[in-house]
Amino acid sequence: MKLLSIVGARPQFVKAAVLLHAFAEWARAAHCPLEHRLLHTGQHHDAALSGVFFEELGLPAPDVELHVGSGKHGAQTGAMLAGIEEALEASRPDAVLIYGDTNSTLAGALAAAKLAIPLVHLEAGLRSFDPAMPEEINRVVSDSVSALLLCPTRTATENLRREGRGENSVWVGDVMLDAALRYAPRARRQGRKALGLAPRSYALATLHRAANTDDTARLDAFAELLLRLPLPAVVPMHPRLEKCLGPARLARLRGRRDLHLRPPAPYLEMLGWEQDARLILTDSGGVQKEAYFLGVPCVTLRRETEWLETVHDGWNTVTGLDPAPALAAVGRLLRALPTAERDLDSFGGGCAGRRSVEATVSLERGLLCGTYL
Ligand code: UD1
Repeated sequence: MKLLSIVGARPQFVKAAVLLHAFAEWARAAHCPLEHRLLHTGQHHDAALSGVFFEELGLPAPDVELHVGSGKHGAQTGAMLAGIEEALEASRPDAVLIYGDTNSTLAGALAAAKLAIPLVHLEAGLRSFDPAMPEEINRVVSDSVSALLLCPTRTATENLRREGRGENSVWVGDVMLDAALRYAPRARRQGRKALGLAPRSYALATLHRAANTDDTARLDAFAELLLRLPLPAVVPMHPRLEKCLGPARLARLRGRRDLHLRPPAPYLEMLGWEQDARLILTDSGGVQKEAYFLGVPCVTLRRETEWLETVHDGWNTVTGLDPAPALAAVGRLLRALPTAERDLDSFGGGCAGRRSVEATVSLERGLLCGTYL
């Protein structure tokens, strides 16, 4: 079987690492020849957002690197599309795997679909129902051209069923949980060494979505929120957040001595800091889920979330970025931790990688037998 995985941004390196590992294990057990190539679009190109993830996760060097870099959506996605098409024509895989909802996902989806190469979308079916969100556009388009939709939650399978795509979808669970369970002990040691703060003594805060970082009022709200937090905080900054905060806001924030502004964290450090945090504030989907997986309460700095399961269980409170509701949620969580039992089985219980492989292998068998043709 010949597979090609397309990645480009940091959460995709984590998801692909789980699948590369799971496919290799399956091939060994099934005595099946497997060629699994990796294409890196170069959407994330800094060592801190890319190189260090490859090292920590034991990912092989990409077979194809496009070095597309940053840019406006059209230019960035267009350059990826051209590069991926060329790579696909050269290698003709049996199936292409795409991950999540970034511009690299969308470019991979369009390139493979136009060459009639079967597409497998991991983390399919998520919806924020905000049509202006770039990731929502990427998800809807990618799902619509995929042959196999691997869903992390029942909410995601239900979304696809309502859109008439239930037949192509299968619930496998969330590979981010597989990764969190596998790396948590190592991450805790590494995170503590790098941070040196007592466990449960700080909040962990991140903000990286363009809708937040590119809006002055929202940036002011985030800065205000950080300054008024009733406990110390650690803030690993996406490069765009640091750029958009600018010297004046950064100086104000640095005036608060127990606010630790840091460069973007490598995966293991971040997972370690999440485990030890008293609570987490974020606009990231991945960080919301990891908070839930690790049993740390989360305040989501957006108006909606795709991860409804985390909210239903009371571990995630969606407040938006206004300091007043976000601080009220922080106050509540500091007084009492959520009591509801977390349901990690609904996220696959750590077996999402294996289930994804089984579903992809049956897709490939179906293709050979003509089921999907
Ligand atoms: C992308 C995804 C988002 C995902 C996130 C994970 C899209 C539309 N968005 O957003 O869904 O949650 O990755 O981090 O694909 N930059 C650097 N160095 C880098 C990469 C980016 O400095 O290595 C800065 C640049 O200023 C760039 C900006 O980040 O202009 C935005 O980069 P972009 O490619 O849009 O990705 P993210 O915003 O990280």
